[in-house]
Amino acid sequence: MKKVCVIGYPIAHSRSPLIHNYWLQMYGIPGLYEKREVKVPELQHFLHHLTAQGYVGCNVTIPHKEAALAFVPHLEDVVKRTGSLNTVYFVGETLCATSTDGEGFYQNLVTQVPELDLTGKTVVIFGAGGSARAITERLLRENIGKIKILNRTHSRAEELAALFGSKVVPIVQNSFVSESRDAVLVINTTAQGLRDQEKLNVDLSCLPPQAVVADIVYVPLKTSLLIQAEARGLRTVGGLGMLLHQAVVGFEKWYGLKPVVTHELYQRVAKDVEQGSN
Ligand SMILES: NC(=O)c1ccc[n+]([C@@H]2O[C@H](COP(=O)([O-])OP(=O)(O)OC[C@H]3O[C@@H](n4cnc5c(N)ncnc54)[C@H](OP(=O)(O)O)[C@@H]3O)[C@@H](O)[C@H]2O)c1
Repeated sequence: MKKVCVIGYPIAHSRSPLIHNYWLQMYGIPGLYEKREVKVPELQHFLHHLTAQGYVGCNVTIPHKEAALAFVPHLEDVVKRTGSLNTVYFVGETLCATSTDGEGFYQNLVTQVPELDLTGKTVVIFGAGGSARAITERLLRENIGKIKILNRTHSRAEELAALFGSKVVPIVQNSFVSESRDAVLVINTTAQGLRDQEKLNVDLSCLPPQAVVADIVYVPLKTSLLIQAEARGLRTVGGLGMLLHQAVVGFEKWYGLKPVVTHELYQRVAKDVEQGSN
């Protein structure tokens, strides 16, 4: 039986077991996906003894997504470009890692809005953290015109832009209205809008009518940003689909089968989000 786990601290909130165990059951694969609480000082030992603990791989979440790079010998290019990983697997006996957040965001986006054409267009991203980096890296592979980064701490927006070259530009607070008139996609990657956190208040009236508004926060499923965008008649993409689509990549690496994100899976995880506290 192939066992996989998600490691982090805290880890109780993770919905990854719900997703992967659903697929294991759906495809009749003998396997198990579990949660393991791993604190910072334990990370190196845990990763170097994955096999001894019976695991064929793991997901890595907060606070280890950056620190884990030091303990994995083979890093995919996407990890090197974003400085972050979330999926660890073996090729032979070599421990390898990838980052699936950018791919998860993109696959969910094209599933929800297949007609969206990003070629040469402008995208505005709120936030400059790990997920903003991952999404920027993935979107740049789509021949985008410009990605504008607006972050509470402007220096982090500048750092992100510096990583990716001239198509990515930092923009200052309060410039959203003037900077987003031609945006086809606006993405919130900050923690704003999370249940019990402050909301992201932004004036969407400047956006063109065909613009899409996406939020990667999925607790609640419909954030205030998405409610605002819907009220303006704009198309919206929620964060839960990204969570499900990013899991596809890891499952395929561990179990050799590309799973389908079904409506039933979405409903199951959505129910868990609605019932849970975070
Ligand atoms: N749907 C999914 O699959 C998925 C995947 C990954 C993450 N997420 C969600 O995405 C969010 C960000 O994750 P991350 O890994 O990118 O985190 P991160 O690296 O810690 O970055 C957090 C970002 O949010 C900003 N921020 C936090 N609180 C803020 C506030 N009160 N006002 C304005 N900006 C604020 C930070 O700005 P500063 O630089 O100024 O601190 C930073 O840009 C989390 O809510 C996480 O749950 C969802």
